[in-house]
Amino acid sequence: MGGAGGGGGGAMRLSPCQAVLALAIALNLLVLYYVSRLQRRAARRPRERGPASAAPRPGLTVLLREFEDFENYVPEVARAFLRQRPAPPVLVVADAPPYPPLRLPPGPGPGARLLVLRPAADQPAAARRPEAHVSTEFVALVPDGARADGAGQLERMQEALRAERGSVRMVAAPVRALRPLQCLDLRVSLRRWAAEYRAAAAPGLCGALRGDAVVLLRARDLFNLSTPLARPLLTSLFVQTALRGWAVRVLDVSFPSLHQPLLTSSHNQWKADRRAQASRRRLFQDFGIKRVVLEDGREQWYGCSKETPRCFGTVHDDTPEYLYQDRWTPPCCLRALRETARYVVGVLEASGVRYWLEGGTLLGAARHGDIIPWDYDVDLGIYLEDVPNCELLRSAEAGSVVDEKGFVWEKAIEGDFYRVQYSEHNHLHVDLWPFYPKNGVMTKDTWMDHRQDVEFPEHFLKPLVPLPFAGFTAMAPNNHRGFLELKFGAGVIENPEYPNPARKRLDKGAL
Ligand SMILES: *[C@@H]1O[C@H](CO)[C@@H](O)[C@H](O)[C@H]1NC(C)=O
Repeated sequence: MGGAGGGGGGAMRLSPCQAVLALAIALNLLVLYYVSRLQRRAARRPRERGPASAAPRPGLTVLLREFEDFENYVPEVARAFLRQRPAPPVLVVADAPPYPPLRLPPGPGPGARLLVLRPAADQPAAARRPEAHVSTEFVALVPDGARADGAGQLERMQEALRAERGSVRMVAAPVRALRPLQCLDLRVSLRRWAAEYRAAAAPGLCGALRGDAVVLLRARDLFNLSTPLARPLLTSLFVQTALRGWAVRVLDVSFPSLHQPLLTSSHNQWKADRRAQASRRRLFQDFGIKRVVLEDGREQWYGCSKETPRCFGTVHDDTPEYLYQDRWTPPCCLRALRETARYVVGVLEASGVRYWLEGGTLLGAARHGDIIPWDYDVDLGIYLEDVPNCELLRSAEAGSVVDEKGFVWEKAIEGDFYRVQYSEHNHLHVDLWPFYPKNGVMTKDTWMDHRQDVEFPEHFLKPLVPLPFAGFTAMAPNNHRGFLELKFGAGVIENPEYPNPARKRLDKGAL
């Protein structure tokens, strides 16, 4: 009993030991409260400032862009990378909501998120802008099927990229057992609508990659590209980086793969190949690349053909639209013009019509044996008295004729001359200008408002001389320098200029 009474007395009065304990607990609670408040404030801050002004967090975001809806390993890839320490945020980017839906792993931590690029009428703009979803310094572009195995590849890639100076702005690591990685050089000329791949001169230092690789670059660099995530992802990436002079280094690091081959059936492989071809075609069309030369020398054409319209519209003020975009004649058009010129010359020669290279066409032949790189048609002079020798020209008098090769012969509506079009759809053409001699001077009845469209002494045609042109040999005036300077002015062969400098001048640095 006495003990119980003593205990009751103890509850009223604190012993020194109990007081110290209570104080320590109170202090602890206070410290905990302030720490948690500070943490909450720190967590809020970046969101309040918005992604644009926030300095990038160190580390990287894993970005998955290339996968097929109908068969992919995206959830497994995401899970494998989320198991790394530290776990990177994983962003899966698709054009449209994938179907069937991806079963992405949720958090803890950043987890994996899906970003759909297709516009959605009820969403804010940032919802579909990938750069608004990446807050790290680096982005690792990871192909479907790549696995992370805790060997620290991503850290090594970041270290390697940090150590790079100069033009190397990307590093890459192949994914084992998927498509082998090729290191290529890539030259892109927008002026010539062309991209040329070659085997890389320096091993491991590339302008482009083909195959499956993880590519690491700075988010700032990736999202400063005109179209950072267009598909096919690596094709699009390297066309844009080649134009900026950026290189990619292949590291002595590689990733394992989840499954091989990636697609389990030949039908799915066929579907994937077809889709890849379609997106490649769309990409090159968007970029205005019409001729691609592969590293083995094969050519791919993405421009106009006999079955499509000409790839530029009606020409105003002698200045075709592509000159205003600082581009020259699309290579498919040059090719079609060469083909048409060669064909027409063959027909004229076979039927005994005397002809000669005229105007800008002769100028191109004199300068470099070809069509001037920004020209849009081919001009030939012919003897008017020889026209009846050629059945196609005779028939063209009565209306347009499609010949057996698909070329269209017609009398021009603009005046007394003939026009041969590449095809019914594609109106690239060779113009034939009939001249006749009058007192030793070659003249004609229709004149265009061009400085070079003038009479000239017939002695330039006596005799006609062969001249290499556009891959064959055509007839040209003798003393073609005298002929061209009479028409265009002195020094015309040495001093190239666009057809109408008042509208658009040639930038001499482009030559
Ligand atoms: C984005 O690119 C342009 C030129 O292409 C360059 O001038 C600019 O500095 C770049 N911005 C960043 C943030 O890298």
